[in-house]
Amino acid sequence: MKIEVRYQSKTGHTAKVADAIAAALGVKAEPITVPVSPETDMLFLGGALYMIYGCNLDPALVRYIAELPPTVRRAALFGTSALMTFGNKRMLKRFRAKGIEVVSESFHCYGEFKGLQAGHPDAQDLSDAAAWAKRIAV
Ligand SMILES: Cc1cc2nc3c(=O)[nH]c(=O)nc-3n(C[C@H](O)[C@H](O)[C@H](O)COP(=O)(O)O)c2cc1C
Repeated sequence: MKIEVRYQSKTGHTAKVADAIAAALGVKAEPITVPVSPETDMLFLGGALYMIYGCNLDPALVRYIAELPPTVRRAALFGTSALMTFGNKRMLKRFRAKGIEVVSESFHCYGEFKGLQAGHPDAQDLSDAAAWAKRIAV
């Protein structure tokens, strides 16, 4: 099974989670500047929420989803944020529009921002992310 891990990250939190997921699956996490193979069986895709975008996803991530090869078989969504937790739902909407199946269980953990959620993602978050990835990558 061809698994790819991609992430959008401005301050490194989602990148950390992506690395934990990729390490658990024996692959390498790459930023969304790297395209995915059209033969991807399962794409793990992560992002975050930013008030500079109206408390929404980075437009580069939205564009990335829109431009994914339609032959990607399935996606699994993960994300970090400091307050709101609807980032994965926002991504899900984009995947539905694209017609790519999404695994029902997604992963979210907090990411520190301006003193909120200090220390996150922490070791427990990363271990939870790794366990989630192993559970659903079947
Ligand atoms: C510029 C900026 C704006 C943010 N705006 C929001 C927001 O509107 N809602 C929220 O829940 N978190 C917000 N956060 C917190 C981030 O979503 C959180 O820290 C996340 O883990 C950042 O991921 P990254 O380090 O991968 O970029 C913001 C963070 C930054 C840097």
